[in-house]
Amino acid sequence: MTFTYKKGQLHIDGVSLASIAEKHGTPTYCYSATRIEENFDAYDKAMARVMARKNYTICYASKANGNLAVLSLLNKKGAGADIVSGGELARVLKAGIPANKIVFSGVGKGEEELTEAIRRGILQINVESEPELELISRIAKKLKKKVQIAIRVNPDVDAKTHKKISTGKKEDKFGIDIKAAPALYNKARKLGGIDACSISVHIGSQLTSLTPYKRAYERVANLVKKLRKQGHNITRVDLGGGIGVRYKNEKPLDLNLYALVIRDIFEDMGVHIILEPGRSLVADAGVLLTRVRHVKKGGHKKFLILDAAMNDLMRPALYEAYHGLVPCKQSGGGKKPYDVVGPVCETGDLFHTNEPMPAMKDGDLAVLMTAGAYGSSMSSGYNTRPLAAEVLVRGKKSALVRKRQTIDDILKNEIMPKGF
Ligand code: LLP
Repeated sequence: MTFTYKKGQLHIDGVSLASIAEKHGTPTYCYSATRIEENFDAYDKAMARVMARKNYTICYASKANGNLAVLSLLNKKGAGADIVSGGELARVLKAGIPANKIVFSGVGKGEEELTEAIRRGILQINVESEPELELISRIAKKLKKKVQIAIRVNPDVDAKTHKKISTGKKEDKFGIDIKAAPALYNKARKLGGIDACSISVHIGSQLTSLTPYKRAYERVANLVKKLRKQGHNITRVDLGGGIGVRYKNEKPLDLNLYALVIRDIFEDMGVHIILEPGRSLVADAGVLLTRVRHVKKGGHKKFLILDAAMNDLMRPALYEAYHGLVPCKQSGGGKKPYDVVGPVCETGDLFHTNEPMPAMKDGDLAVLMTAGAYGSSMSSGYNTRPLAAEVLVRGKKSALVRKRQTIDDILKNEIMPKGF
């Protein structure tokens, strides 16, 4: 268990969260190295059970949590990376992830970003539109390179997830209509500088059912057959993001069953499989450590005002996502309903409404759970609030892996123009 009470104090592995708060202040993201590794191993084992190791690559979606320390852990485990920007390319390379294990996704990549990725010789670029294909071809010819690409297809499958993180329906901006894909492969063959050897698909995030995966993957498999018949040498398929996690009551999918779906659909094709899990590798390995600033009595409500806010963890405000609040000091008493809020000047800066919680008082420490994915990476400086610190824990050791931003850091890039 990653998060347990020992002598009444909540610990992340062998380190008490109170000791992290004392050393580094709050709000602070805290991650368990061991848990991240275990999560990676779970994918790796499930895939290794059904196929040879050389036939799949797990490319961590670095957008979920791009801290260099996290990337470096995953690199040591053998992970590649899925990136969506030049910034993420720089990050994952700095963390040591080899270029030939990097895939570049994203609906609107910039020319500079593509040029850098092609220069570095990354494994594959997932193409999302015809103009992007043409742009890649131009850059590749200029650099005298042959670039391996996948066309990201939109299979028109409902992922049955939150509408803001669903990507595989035909009305979504992502990918190319699977029916229109063969024409684009034919075009790619003629363009030059391009080796269209792969197909990619990603239908959404936080999936808790195998059915949408099956539907999408079957459509991809049919496309592999069709393209091969037309003489295209398809050697890889990129199956997109990973499975959903448990925030509250969700029942996460069994990775072994997920791997079996992949095997059953692609076994006979001899294609190399790429997976791009993000959330499921890091979400439950992290918490956002926060201190109660005040307990405020409203008309008939009690508000817990935390020092963490929507700028630090925006998932509740953006998706009405649930992140349980757990006190750092164990309490035997009964629970009372609280509205849990941050100090930002927005009504939407709200983590919970009427959440049953043990009695809390000013200055108490607590954690927002399951915050290792899309927490820090989506944070902002709204209300001129410095970005939170980040701490990595292994056993009884802890290390600061991102300093808390200072107000000076925030202001130093701003310029007061003369004569305006
Ligand atoms: N591959 C592609 C092409 C993606 O767009 C994504 C996520 C992933 C992989 C990783 O998916 P995962 O394994 O994490 O489900 N901010 C939202 C999630 C946005 C996901 C965007 N794409 C949230 O906090 O729920």
